[in-house]
Amino acid sequence: MKILVINGPNLNLLGVREPGIYGRETYDSLLEKITAHCTACGVEVEFYQSNHEGGLVDAIQGALGTADGIVINPGAYTHTSIAILDAAKAVALPMVEVHISDVRKREPFRSVSYIRSACLKSIVGHGTDGYLEAIDFLLENADEG
Ligand code: DQA
Repeated sequence: MKILVINGPNLNLLGVREPGIYGRETYDSLLEKITAHCTACGVEVEFYQSNHEGGLVDAIQGALGTADGIVINPGAYTHTSIAILDAAKAVALPMVEVHISDVRKREPFRSVSYIRSACLKSIVGHGTDGYLEAIDFLLENADEG
């Protein structure tokens, strides 16, 4: 089983950006944490991060035939991007949406998620552990995509 973990804009600045909301863990240490979890679960993992909407669309398209599931935190594009939603629907891979913060308890515009309707599950407000929960969920449910 191979999982692609996609992160959108500004998530490369984890640890630096608004630590009161997103915590002090850096993007690199997040990747190490996910890699360790996947190794322990016997899952192959690949990472992609971009600050550009088209890059995220390309990464989702590229997962077709190369990954068995996707964990995605589209960052702010969650709330705006029909292109990312359409890419997710096009590849129809099992997908879980993750948000580090609890987007339901922030500004009202953060409660809108275009990608949600293409995902088997949304995990919000569990900090970076949400990525590990998403991987566990895909391991148990990847057949349903
Ligand atoms: C985020 C929440 C988004 O609203 C925000 O734009 C992000 C990060 C999260 O992980 O909590 O960039 O997706």
